[in-house]
Amino acid sequence: MSILAVYGSPRRRGNTSLLLKKAVEGAREAGAEVDEIVLRDLRMAPCLEIYGCKETGRCVIQDDFQQVYDQLVACRGLMLASPIFFYAVSAHTKILMDRCQSFWVKKHWIEKVPFGRGELNRKGLFISAGATGGKRLFDGALLSIRYFFEVLDMELWRTLLYRGLDHEGDVLEHSEYLEEAYQAGRELAQ
Ligand SMILES: Cc1cc2nc3c(=O)[nH]c(=O)nc-3n(C[C@H](O)[C@H](O)[C@H](O)COP(=O)(O)O)c2cc1C
Repeated sequence: MSILAVYGSPRRRGNTSLLLKKAVEGAREAGAEVDEIVLRDLRMAPCLEIYGCKETGRCVIQDDFQQVYDQLVACRGLMLASPIFFYAVSAHTKILMDRCQSFWVKKHWIEKVPFGRGELNRKGLFISAGATGGKRLFDGALLSIRYFFEVLDMELWRTLLYRGLDHEGDVLEHSEYLEEAYQAGRELAQ
């Protein structure tokens, strides 16, 4: 069982990174092989909307996305963590999402799968955190994450969404959140 863990925060030891680390730990302890990707360390341009992917379903921009693409194709499950920035995902995360338009093109234009008809045969976990406590804090991110996972043939299997976390490491004061992330990683692996 191979799982891909994607860190979408610019902070290496930020709240979502610490939560995702716990999920990775849980998945590994349950026997999964987990590859970790820290988006801030990659050289990844935004989508240029040139549709070079129309020929093969593969993005033509030659940068670190090429390897991520292969990892996204190969994994059985995805764990994605992003903070809430202006009621959306982080810019690092959004760049990755937009580059995955190549998956959308492959599925709907090349393979002609009708919209909403693809099989969701993989599972995705989304982890997020925001500073405030509003009821709709995660609505914007969740809408785009749901469609992003669908493009990858993934069901949005579980979300771990935490309000009231702002400073780096705030989540360390909530061992119950970290435990929840650990258990989610274990379950995803199983
Ligand atoms: C550019 C930016 C935009 C943000 N926008 C929001 C927001 O819209 N709502 C909110 O509750 N928190 C917002 N925050 C706070 C972060 O979501 C919060 O600090 C979170 O814990 C960061 O997660 P991380 O430590 O994993 O990076 C913002 C922070 C930054 C830097």
